[in-house]
Amino acid sequence: MSQEPNRIIVGAQWGDEGKGKLVDRLASRADVVVRYQGGANAGHTLVVEGRKTVLHLVPSGILHGDKLNVIGPGCVVDPVALLHELDGLAAVGINPTPDHLLIARQAHVILSMHQHLDRAREAAAGDAKIGTTGRGIGPAYEDLVARRGIRFGDFFDPAYLRARVEFSLQEKNVLLTSLGMSALSVDEVLAPAELAFERLRPFIGDAGAVVSKAHRDGRVLLFEGAQGTMLDVLHGTYPFVTSSSTIAAGALTSLGLGPKVVHEIIGVSKAYTTRVGSGPFPTEMVGVEAEWGERLRQAGREFGATTGRPRRCGWLDVPALRYSARINGLDSIALMKTDVLQGLGPLKLCVAYTFRGQTFDELPMTPEALVEASPVYETFEGFDADITGCRRFRDLPASVQRYVEAVEARVGIPITFLSVGPGRDENVDR
Ligand code: IMP
Repeated sequence: MSQEPNRIIVGAQWGDEGKGKLVDRLASRADVVVRYQGGANAGHTLVVEGRKTVLHLVPSGILHGDKLNVIGPGCVVDPVALLHELDGLAAVGINPTPDHLLIARQAHVILSMHQHLDRAREAAAGDAKIGTTGRGIGPAYEDLVARRGIRFGDFFDPAYLRARVEFSLQEKNVLLTSLGMSALSVDEVLAPAELAFERLRPFIGDAGAVVSKAHRDGRVLLFEGAQGTMLDVLHGTYPFVTSSSTIAAGALTSLGLGPKVVHEIIGVSKAYTTRVGSGPFPTEMVGVEAEWGERLRQAGREFGATTGRPRRCGWLDVPALRYSARINGLDSIALMKTDVLQGLGPLKLCVAYTFRGQTFDELPMTPEALVEASPVYETFEGFDADITGCRRFRDLPASVQRYVEAVEARVGIPITFLSVGPGRDENVDR
């Protein structure tokens, strides 16, 4: 292909794989960067000229002045949080114009009623809690499929909007009060969102049509997934998932594009595994391995960018990656944070699962198998050398090369990119 391909970058694990770093790098070769699902539950910390800012919804292409960044119809957008994010960007000197930022008018809006409901439900769920980010993601997507959601476009017609919120609140207030919370008034729910909308108004448009036209005009598209495959509402470790379609196909349903638009799908994985929130995590370092988990957490700064929660850490899970490769149709894998394994000692790699006498080479996804299946490990020599300066595969210690080649061979997908440090250029391209 003479031109850069249209790419989807998707999390191959439970989120927080380091997609932002890859997106940031590939954004320079794209014209349009599209975030296709999720909301302010995601978080990506950026350091711009020494100042820290966190992106939750705005695609990382915003750092490359000349790109169009799109928040797609499949996203759920909290207008107040988005404004806050734009203010954070302004503080580091980034002031997007409508030529650089487009919010889909079809995107559903998260209002305070969704956040109250999210938190009240979690508080009432006891052991069954999902460990959500509390950002109202689930309730907003529920409203979407229940056909009672509020969309950005509705804000252009205040009377219609008010009627929609009134209708939605009738039911939500019954739920909220039954969970011990106070009922909400239409005004308190609407006022902050309407205020935020006034500033967001110039950025709202028909994202699907714009992206489709950009494609027809030969512009290069980059789709940025949030969360990860194992958190997909349909294909993830249900019910411990988020409420959106996090997988590659989600990019197409979100924007309303045909599958042939996409040329390349890259899965992003860490060289180990993390997970935030509740739910099964078979290769988690617990018990006698808890100390290793703590070392990874500190070395990899594994604390949520959105909630600050410590992430659960574990060994790399090949069967989960094989599952991801199948569900997303991955062409290649980017292996992030390889440097974090430095000094950890021998590296365990989960290569299969056994469950009720059977062996599985993909993570078995039924709830009982997820809890009961036993990981089968192979052990590899670790490494003590600092690898952050390595830029070619052959510069890496032999043990790192063997580990990476083993992952690649067992997943059956080439690893074409290795991140060896947090810096923009601390990578090995293969
Ligand atoms: P929700 O998306 O806030 O409803 O949370 C549902 C589950 O997805 C919880 O386990 C969260 O911890 C997890 N989750 C949501 N967003 C992210 C993310 O960006 N990274 C990792 N986990 C996430």
